[in-house]
Amino acid sequence: MYNIAVIPGDGIGKEVMKACINVLKSLDIDFNFTYGEAGDECLLENGEALPDTTIELAKNADACLFGAAGETAADVIVRLRQELNLFANLRPVKSYPNTNALFNNLDFMIVRENTEGIYVAKEEEYTEEGAIARRIITKKASKRIIDYAFQFAKNNNKSKVTGVHKANVLKVTDGLFKEVLYEVAKDYEGEVEVEDFYVDATAMYLITRPESFEVIVTTNLFGDILSDEGAGLVGGLGMIPSGNIGEDGALFEPVHGSAPDIAGKGIANPMAMILSASMMLNYLEEYEAEENLNNAILTVLNEGKVLTPDLGGTATTTEVGEAIISALN
Ligand code: NAI
Ligand code: MG
Repeated sequence: MYNIAVIPGDGIGKEVMKACINVLKSLDIDFNFTYGEAGDECLLENGEALPDTTIELAKNADACLFGAAGETAADVIVRLRQELNLFANLRPVKSYPNTNALFNNLDFMIVRENTEGIYVAKEEEYTEEGAIARRIITKKASKRIIDYAFQFAKNNNKSKVTGVHKANVLKVTDGLFKEVLYEVAKDYEGEVEVEDFYVDATAMYLITRPESFEVIVTTNLFGDILSDEGAGLVGGLGMIPSGNIGEDGALFEPVHGSAPDIAGKGIANPMAMILSASMMLNYLEEYEAEENLNNAILTVLNEGKVLTPDLGGTATTTEVGEAIISALN
């Protein structure tokens, strides 16, 4: 049995989570779902956006599902990532039919280091003339994220990992990242290939030949930018899931927010949330259930009859969830 912490949050977070949990309940897996509060409404009711009880719940779970928060999103999700020490940010770039994808043949994973780089150190006031930001790259965190990327490749039948850096200019920090890339690659010789590119070239290749990527691993800031570029290749926010992985826990969430413009109308696309749950199944090594769920989602998209308005349809959130459940059975 898996203990899953469920944090629906605000707005459409609650709506897509409901559809998602119903889909998970229809699988042949024993889940114990425990709900936690977080977000804007929680702040109004309890005086804090992320109560300790929710943090504890998330820490004790095998994995967490997060919907979306509103204005408090940064406090909630950034804090949860820190508290759970979620070092890897996973953003799949996968094309689906009947969506706004620019390419119809993409299926790769961007693995972003989530704990250091230029986002960690606080920026310093320097002089009247300017300011300084420090960039921290450690061997330990580099090895951890690169090893995760190779392991992910191996477990998911991917044959190549691409390390992305700017070691020609950032010779010391990214030089280290590149060195660790090739060190770790030795452990996977014969199983997973390795290559490396500069981040600027990669930004171009993502547009000129995105189908050549399988797994990209990179430092914090580069990963932040490239993963949004990846999202742009495969269409709207309603289709983009993500994962945050730690040594002892993980959290899965759609990339979108609480969407106040459509909240309460029951028309939010639950696919990004349900795809996040599918990433959770991968994390739990429930590969068969993951494949079944992905196939069910593909069936619904291929048929193109039950789609929410963002994908050009007229279906509700609930109807999309139900269509996925029928496709599963
Ligand atoms: P948003 O992602 O909530 O919405 C952007 C646009 O995409 C809106 O037009 C919305 O209707 C549409 N959209 C988003 N998800 C959709 C879905 N599943 N189905 C159909 N349409 C969808 O981003 P926005 O408007 O910048 O922020 C709204 C609130 O969400 C803010 O309070 C922000 O702080 C919060 N937010 C929370 C995040 C999180 O919890 N991880 C991430 C991003 C924003
Ligand atoms: Mg971003």
